[in-house]
Amino acid sequence: MIDTDVEIRPAVPSDAESVLAFWRESAEGTSISDDVDGVRRLLDRDPEALILAVDGDRIVGSVIAGWDGWRASLYRLAVLPSYRRRGLSKALLKAAEDRFAALGGRRADAMVLEANERAHRAWETAGYERQEQWRRWVKPFSG
Ligand SMILES: CC(C)(COP(=O)(O)OP(=O)(O)OC[C@H]1O[C@@H](n2cnc3c(N)ncnc32)[C@H](O)[C@@H]1OP(=O)(O)O)[C@@H](O)C(=O)NCCC(=O)NCCS
Repeated sequence: MIDTDVEIRPAVPSDAESVLAFWRESAEGTSISDDVDGVRRLLDRDPEALILAVDGDRIVGSVIAGWDGWRASLYRLAVLPSYRRRGLSKALLKAAEDRFAALGGRRADAMVLEANERAHRAWETAGYERQEQWRRWVKPFSG
């Protein structure tokens, strides 16, 4: 069960540096948006999208619950190593799913690295089902 002193709350712009440091320590993989501008742009566009688990002023978990009116997309599910296996990822996903449901979302999607078997177990436990028929297609914008 999640610790009583861990709080789930939306991130604010002043969290950006700490969130990036937390991701460097706890997240799997990186993104093209991993800088202060990237995090602040997310929060400018959707202030409720980045959900944090915090213990006092320490960030111990995160998930991005991105809703664009069409899809409900989950990114950056991560828990600080010393806080794992206490139900924090379940609590973060519940907060994200509650947000999506309140906004009219019908299904949540996540991209998960093929080799990340621990994450596969966490997603499965939370009720997510792997789809074999998709591959990601990407095009970075230059300049
Ligand atoms: C994956 C991750 C977010 C799970 O966070 P967590 O808070 O430890 O997960 P929870 O405690 O909520 O566990 C939920 C369930 O996931 C499964 N699970 C999580 N970690 C597991 C592990 N190391 N081995 C086996 N099962 C695991 C279990 O079924 C667990 O339920 P249980 O503890 O009741 O058995 C965490 O390990 C992490 O941050 N990993 C690095 C970042 C990452 O890979 N993120 C996912 C990107 S797609």
